[in-house]
Amino acid sequence: MLDAGKTETLLEVNNIEVIYNHVILVLKGVSLSVPKGGITALLGGNGAGKTTTLKAISNLLHSERGEVTKGRITYRGERVQDLSPADLVAKGVIQVMEGRHCFGHLTVEENLLTGAYIRKDGRAAIARDLDMVYSHFPRLKERRKSQAGYTSGGEQQMVAIGRALMSRPETILLDEPSMGLAPQLVEQIFQIVKAVNETEGVTFLLAEQNTNVALRYAHYGYILESGRVVMDGPAAELRENPDVKEFYLGVSDQGRNSFRNVRSYRRRKRWLS
Ligand SMILES: Nc1ncnc2c1ncn2[C@@H]1O[C@H](COP(=O)(O)OP(=O)(O)OP(=O)(O)O)[C@@H](O)[C@H]1O
Ligand SMILES: [Mg+2]
Repeated sequence: MLDAGKTETLLEVNNIEVIYNHVILVLKGVSLSVPKGGITALLGGNGAGKTTTLKAISNLLHSERGEVTKGRITYRGERVQDLSPADLVAKGVIQVMEGRHCFGHLTVEENLLTGAYIRKDGRAAIARDLDMVYSHFPRLKERRKSQAGYTSGGEQQMVAIGRALMSRPETILLDEPSMGLAPQLVEQIFQIVKAVNETEGVTFLLAEQNTNVALRYAHYGYILESGRVVMDGPAAELRENPDVKEFYLGVSDQGRNSFRNVRSYRRRKRWLS
């Protein structure tokens, strides 16, 4: 277990505000910190601001007409707000986008190799890392000659994470790895994330609507609601928190449907109170 008091903080988001299209205020003072070697989860429902937070960190907001208008983002103590996504990759931070973007016409292996494009340490090192990726994703080794566009959703998520690993990152920002996957596959993906974290020492900040699974694998969690952090704590504590249990872990445990019901119930309650 990570001891937050002793570990180094890699990424620090300090009170950021994000505005889309000059007028839509989406993040209203979000702060979080990501310790080296940990898995930190950014939780919350639809539209809470998880993707916006990750894109603010990796500087991918410009293409969305979004802008960080307040606050500060640092990596290893250095301000990274003005870096391009490529500069950030060079510093060891890479984002795996929501919806697993693969190059459909390339093979699985070619996709993985595109992740190594910024490296200058030679073919042998890249070949070793390809083996490392295949050791975590044996399924990808089996499918390495297949065209990525014809692989399953789970396999494409594996390709997206594997490709990120090929850049030898220190930190991966992973957006909604469970999206659209069957529960068994979600579990498998999270097990791989945990193994990569433990054996390769890669730090993760992951955004997830699936609170239940994320809190079982993460060390620490932040819960976002309407662009604000409403709660944070060690994952084990959040799992036992009565509000989290009621509103995010869906007592009846029937997946997103019941989760949505719980949330609309909560909205109603808030509206009435
Ligand atoms: N390009 C954009 N222009 C305007 N508003 C946007 C844009 N992208 C996102 N938003 C709004 O910002 C809010 C936060 O969206 P965001 O995608 O960050 O949420 P999320 O927590 O990732 O949700 P989900 O779990 O559905 O992926 C939402 O209200 C969304 O409608
Ligand atoms: Mg999102």
